[in-house]
Formats: sequence, structure tokens, C-alpha cells
Amino acid sequence: TRSLTILGIESSCDDTAAAVVRDCDVLASVVYGQTALHAEFGGVVPEIAARAHAEKLDHCIEEALAVAGVTFADLDAIAVTAGPGLIGGVLSGVMCAKGLSAATGLPLIGVNHLAGHALTPRLTDQLTYPYLMLLVSGGHCQFLIAAGHDSFQRIGGTIDDAPGEAFDKTARLLGLPQPGGPSVEKAAKTGDAQRFPLPRPLLNQPGCDMSFSGLKTAILRARDSVVAEKGGLTSQDQADLSASFQAAITDVLIEKSRRALDAYLALNPEKPAFAIAGGVAANTAVREGLMALCVELETDFVAPPLRLCTDNAAMIAYAGLERMQAGEQDDLTLSARPRWPL
Ligand code: KG4
Ligand code: ZN
Repeated sequence: TRSLTILGIESSCDDTAAAVVRDCDVLASVVYGQTALHAEFGGVVPEIAARAHAEKLDHCIEEALAVAGVTFADLDAIAVTAGPGLIGGVLSGVMCAKGLSAATGLPLIGVNHLAGHALTPRLTDQLTYPYLMLLVSGGHCQFLIAAGHDSFQRIGGTIDDAPGEAFDKTARLLGLPQPGGPSVEKAAKTGDAQRFPLPRPLLNQPGCDMSFSGLKTAILRARDSVVAEKGGLTSQDQADLSASFQAAITDVLIEKSRRALDAYLALNPEKPAFAIAGGVAANTAVREGLMALCVELETDFVAPPLRLCTDNAAMIAYAGLERMQAGEQDDLTLSARPRWPL
């Protein structure tokens, strides 16, 4: 197949990102996080996010093209996240991509953000279909069997909150900075995971469904009991609560991954392959637990580098590239979709 060079644009949550991907090479991947803008509000404020995307996108794209050393003339298409996500942000990206497509004549390709995450192991490791995927981020948590760029079978997932959201909530409760995942992981390093016995929701139920909302309540109660006793949290309390929380999440993800892998391997015994993506896949305890599981089950394990696990535009460019290879593209009627299941 002919070499393809794609510009990717991502703005569905709180990262403004642009990237240039040529086949499986990431020539540039620029990400402007908005964490500081939302810090004082304790969560992502959609209007602030949309405005910041609109302000930063042009610059982000220029930088990605410059780093990649390409101009629009070198590109084959423009791929943009068209959903799911915060609608104002998705619209900013889609409008920008439409403008560029109209001005340059380059094909426009709308990409599902979740497909971007789910195809990342193909970009980074040239993983062939089919494979089992655990997509685990701030907004999502699901097991998918990926059989093609637009063929995903969901075999289980969270019935309420996503683990990343629980990490973020836990950080807020403990007075640790956002985004919560990295700060809880850091605090957990010096903590005692045994000190607070937290629930492992649905662990003993059959199937691959998960639940994390009860865990958020449990960590709230555990914190309140320490605060009631001592009047506040010491850094050791923060570390122990973080470690106990991370252990509960990790136990659930690993046990449910074992079940999902059993189900997948029963269907695809000749192709043992398991990949993870999404922001929580950046967590070392989660990665190491899943790696050990795959060693035990003699399954290939793909964990993309951290910068391609969290939100980025290289995954969007690559998912666009697969759509283009399949002969698919959109036109200027492409719409932004707040909800868009795979
Ligand atoms: O995929 P992502 O960048 O955005 C979407 O949600 O689509 O994921 C962000 C989420 C946040 O909730 C963040 O706290 C979590 O991923 N996260 C982590 C880690 N790094 C990011 N969670 C646990 N451990 C980490 N090291
Ligand atoms: Zn994401």
C-alpha cells in the first residue's frame, strides 16, 4: 500500500493536540494540556475547555507540522476527533479541520476518539487483528475485541464510573493535585495498601462487567474516619489511602481482564493478544499486573508508551489513516457527536 501522511487533531476533553503520522511513524505529537486552567474548579469546565481549544488549535497544528518538517502539500488527509466528548471541544476541532480541508482540498476524516485509543497498539506495535483490548480512561472502561478498524465487539465494561474518574475523585478527596491518576500513583508508592480494606465491587460476580462508584464512596468514608480521628490527613495517611485505593482498582482490572481474556481466547485460540490503552493504562501497577497475567496465560501483551496511552492526536491521525486505507472519508457535512459508542 501507498505511504500515507495524516494530520490528526484532538480536542474532545481537556487536551488540545495535533500530530503528524506517516504510516506507523509518529513524525510529531504535540499536546497542550489544560490542567492548570481547570485546577481551581476541581474538574474540567466545558466552556473553558472549548474556548481554550479554539485559542490553541492553530498554534498546536503549526507546531506539529513544523516538528514533523512537513507542509500541507505533504499531507494526504486531515483526521479529527468527531466524538464522543465534550461537545464544545469536539466542535472546535471539527470546525478547524473543516476549515483546513476546505482551504487545502485535503480529504477530511472524522474519527471516533475511542477507536483512536483502541487502534493505538497497531500504531505502536503493528499488532494484527484480532486482539482483546482494555480501554480504560477518565471517561471509559470497556473490554473490546478488535477485529477491524470499524469492527469492535464489547464484551464487558463498567456499569457506572470509569477508573480514571475514580482516581481523579480520590485525589480531590485526599487533597492531591489533578489529574488524579499520576498523583495518586505517586503517593501510593510510599503507602501501605493493607491499611484500608476497600471493597472490590463485582469481583465475585461472573462476567467482565465492573463497577467503581462504590469504591469512590468507600474511599470517602475511609478518609472521613481518619479526619474525624485526627482532625486531618498526614502525608502518610494520603499515601496509605492512595495505595489501598490503587490496589482495589488494580485487583478488579486484573481479575476482570483474566475473565475477558478467557472469553476472548475461547473464540480466538490461535491469536492470543491483549492490549491496553487510555489514560489509566499509564499506571505502573495496572500495567505490571496485566503483564504478569499475560505471561501466565501465554498471551502477547501490548502496552503503548505512556504518551500514546493518554489523550493525543497521533492515535487520531492513525485511526484516520486506517479509515483512508479502507477507502472511507467524510465531507464538510461531518458532524460533532457528544455520544458515539463504538
Ligand atoms: O485517556 P485519557 O487521557 O482521557 C480520557 O479520559 O479520554 O485519560 C485520562 C484519565 C484521567 O482520569 C487520569 O487521572 C487517568 O487517565 N490517568 C491515570 C494515570 N495517568 C492518567 N490513572 C492512573 N494512573 C496513572 N498513572
Ligand atoms: Zn481518551
